[in-house]
Amino acid sequence: MITSDMAGSDKKTIFVTGGAGFIGSALVRQLVLETSATVVNIDKLTYAGNLASLVSVAESERYHFEQCDICDREAISRVFRDYRPDAIVHLAAESHVDRSIDGPGSFIHTNIHGTYVLLEQALTYWKTLDDAKKAAFRFHHVSTDEVYGSLGDIGAFTETTSYEPNSPYSASKAASDHLVRAWHQTYGLPVLLSNCSNNYGPYQHPEKLIPTIISNAINGQPIPIYGKGDNVRDWLFVDDHAHALRSILAKGKVGEKYNVGGHNEFSNMQVVGLVCDLLDELLPQSEYNPHASLIEFVTDRPGHDKRYAIDAGKIKAELNWSPSETFESGLRATVQWYLENPEWHASWSKKGFDSQRLGLRQ
Ligand code: NAD
Ligand code: DAU
Repeated sequence: MITSDMAGSDKKTIFVTGGAGFIGSALVRQLVLETSATVVNIDKLTYAGNLASLVSVAESERYHFEQCDICDREAISRVFRDYRPDAIVHLAAESHVDRSIDGPGSFIHTNIHGTYVLLEQALTYWKTLDDAKKAAFRFHHVSTDEVYGSLGDIGAFTETTSYEPNSPYSASKAASDHLVRAWHQTYGLPVLLSNCSNNYGPYQHPEKLIPTIISNAINGQPIPIYGKGDNVRDWLFVDDHAHALRSILAKGKVGEKYNVGGHNEFSNMQVVGLVCDLLDELLPQSEYNPHASLIEFVTDRPGHDKRYAIDAGKIKAELNWSPSETFESGLRATVQWYLENPEWHASWSKKGFDSQRLGLRQ
């Protein structure tokens, strides 16, 4: 359990880019509800943004929303002038691998150019600060384990694993990581970088694996599993990730990177089996029991990374962070949440999300 002191965020003004997204909204909720920080959520509200995830904080006087594109230099310059932040946690990104296969352009634009715009505006602002504020300022870039590429049957990504991104998404995130490093090495901007594994939990966009499984299963639709379902991901409950981000922001060493993961490696077939078992238990009267009968193997994702696994030893040893949830407890809470909040998936349908297969462009 993290205390507000440990969060290093009390009475500070923190920018969260992408705060209307899955992980960003979890971080915003924690910062507003568990600390005395003022939070400015900077989000363009792309197809992936949803303010429904922020209802619990929307009325707080310490919460502000700025609908801005991070690529818009003028708009970003204005928010720095208006709020004069102590830190920025940068999560805004195009995040879905399948969409990056169909249309890499927006990934290049937002993830690379947008990060460049933020770095430049942060640097310009940082140079105006007095020495004490300059020393305390942080630019925390939130990235992914996918920059490291794909693992074989053994081993785990460490902070020194070389970058070998395989999808347009991961290549764009890798590029942004390099920019963040360069702005520190060259201009002295006090940056932090973290690379996290697959998140799951409440308020995730229905395009991602676990919400897809839950939604399709409860509606009696086929559950699409790419290839043989033997690809492995390392799952982390989203609130654990938000706690990790707060620890890094509060205690991370400037210029360092931290891997964040849950030590929860499961193949996609194992994940779908566990979710279906939970649904069988929680919906004993469902006409679709056993829900696993809905699994359908479909064409594999092009360039599908085989396995990810995070060695989270550094963040444990140096910042004393480790996840609170096991995959079992986190998945149960997640499935229960989606069952109790059917309006979440309904809100995406209203926005036009139709769960068609993505990412098959050759
Ligand atoms: P998400 O797709 O749920 O949310 C992204 C948010 O960014 C949305 O609210 C969207 O409106 C906003 N956004 C997109 N483009 C923007 C722009 N140009 N300007 C301003 N806002 C913009 O993503 P997520 O899953 O919450 O991921 C957040 C971050 O964490 C991303 O940087 C992602 O690469 C990283 N990450 C995600 C995971 C994961 O498992 N989801 C794991 C590791 C790292
Ligand atoms: O590892 C961190 C990354 O995790 C983040 O950087 C990304 O932003 C996030 O989207 C996630 O990427 P993945 O590609 O691993 O997540 P996704 O939910 O799209 O897929 C998880 C696995 O499930 C992957 O092996 C593909 C497979 N899959 C996915 C979907 C949507 C299926 O088999 N069927 C599906 O319908």
